[in-house]
Amino acid sequence: MIAIGCDHGGYDLKCEIIKYLQKKGLEYTDFGCNGESVDYPIYAKKVGQAILDGEGEKGILICGTGIGMSIAANKVKGIRAAVWENEFSTEMTRAHNNANVLCMGARVIDTEKAIKLTDIFLDTEFMGDKHLTRINMIADIENK
Ligand code: RB5
Repeated sequence: MIAIGCDHGGYDLKCEIIKYLQKKGLEYTDFGCNGESVDYPIYAKKVGQAILDGEGEKGILICGTGIGMSIAANKVKGIRAAVWENEFSTEMTRAHNNANVLCMGARVIDTEKAIKLTDIFLDTEFMGDKHLTRINMIADIENK
């Protein structure tokens, strides 16, 4: 299951991504918002927590820039969120950093690009090996 959330800045793009997930027959849970003016950390926390609780395997968070969502989501222990604006970074962030949350900025990228990045996020496997050592080092920082 994919956990998805947004603030008002990301609402329209979230609707497009949800349509795309539906078209692909992928399971998702929408954690809000519904377009009203909200505070993005609330939704970053909901999506991050859903992943930690095992409800969702991966998360997608959308705000105006993607940045606020990523800062907030990374405060949830065990979440590795990043803002992705291009295909290469998206692939590497999965393959090397094992990111479990994709953050996008609706005021930065268009729908076509966002769908492309979503596909890469969902399809790219973590490479493990020396990259796992590094992920564990990040967890150590988090646990201190
Ligand atoms: C809301 O206007 C905007 O600040 C938010 O969507 C996001 O871009 C924050 O990082």
